[in-house]
Amino acid sequence: MSSAKTLDGKGAGEAIRELLRPRIAAFRVASGRSPGLGILLAGNDGGSQIYVRNKVHACEELGIVVDLRRLSEDSTVEQVTSVVNSLNRDESIDAILVQSPLPAGMGAEAEKEVFNVIDPGKDVDGFCAVNVGRLAQNRSTLAPATPSGIIELLDRSKIQIQGAHAVIIGRSDIVGKPMAMLMLHRHATVTICHSRTQDLAMVTSRADILISAVGHPGLVIPKFVKPGSTVIDVGTTRVTDRRQVSAIFGEESPRLEVLDRRGAVVVGDVHPGVASVAGAVTPVPGGVGPLTIAMLLSNTVKAAETRLT
Ligand code: GUN
Repeated sequence: MSSAKTLDGKGAGEAIRELLRPRIAAFRVASGRSPGLGILLAGNDGGSQIYVRNKVHACEELGIVVDLRRLSEDSTVEQVTSVVNSLNRDESIDAILVQSPLPAGMGAEAEKEVFNVIDPGKDVDGFCAVNVGRLAQNRSTLAPATPSGIIELLDRSKIQIQGAHAVIIGRSDIVGKPMAMLMLHRHATVTICHSRTQDLAMVTSRADILISAVGHPGLVIPKFVKPGSTVIDVGTTRVTDRRQVSAIFGEESPRLEVLDRRGAVVVGDVHPGVASVAGAVTPVPGGVGPLTIAMLLSNTVKAAETRLT
C-alpha cells in the first residue's frame, strides 16, 4: 500500500530550465555569445559517462555551449590541472565542472587538488576551498547542484525546512556536507549519519526530512522512517543482479522486466515499502537526478551573468 505523495523532480527541473531561457537570451544580447561550460571527464567510470552525456544534452538543449575535454584513465593530476588552467584562461568559458570521481590511480587527494585550481568564479559545482568556505559562511554564490536542487524541490513542494529535524545519511563533499550547510542556513536542526553511526534506524526515525545519499540500494526501510515525514532519495546505484532487484521490489515488479531488457536498473537508497509510512518521497529515477542537472544549468547561467557585470 502506498500513501506517500511522490515529489516530482522532473517537473520541478523543467520549470527551473524554463526560467533560464530568457536569462540566456538576455546574456546573448549583452555579451554577443552563449554561456560556456567546460566539462572535464577523466577515465572510464560508467556512471560518469552517462551523467556527463546527460549534462551535455541538457546544456545543448538550452543553448549553453559545452567544451567537453576527455582524458584517459591513466592521466595524471598535472594533466587534469593543466586542462583546468586552460579553461580558467578561456574567455568564452564561464563555468567549469570536473566530473567526480577522478580515476583512483590519481590518488586520494587528487580531487581536492584539482577542485582547488578551478577559478572560484567559474567553479560551477562549488567544490573549491573558497566556495566551500563561502557556503559555510552562508555567503555562497555557487552552491553544489544536488543539495541546491533538493532545497528547490522542498520549497516548490511547500515542505517546511525551518524548525524541521533534517537527518542526512552520508557525509560526502558532494552531497552530505553541503546539504547539511544549506539545511542549517534554512534553520533546520541537522544530524549527519554515516557508516559508523550506531543504531541508524533510531536516529533516522526522528527525522522530519530524511535525505539518503550513500548509494546503498534499499537501505532505508520502513522502520527508518517517521510516519508522515519527507524522504529524499539521492541514491542511484546501477544494479545488475536479478536477485537483488527482486529482493527489494518483489518478484512481480516491472523493474525486473527492465533489468531483463537492459541488463541493469538504477536503484535508490530508499526501499519501496517506505511509501506506506512517509508523507512524501522522491522517485528514482525522476526525483533528485533531474534537479541536479537543472541546478548545474542554473549555476552556469549565474556564473556567466556574474562575469558580465
Ligand atoms: N559526480 C557525482 N555528482 C557530481 C556532481 O554534482 N558534480 C561533479 N562534478 N561530479 C559529480
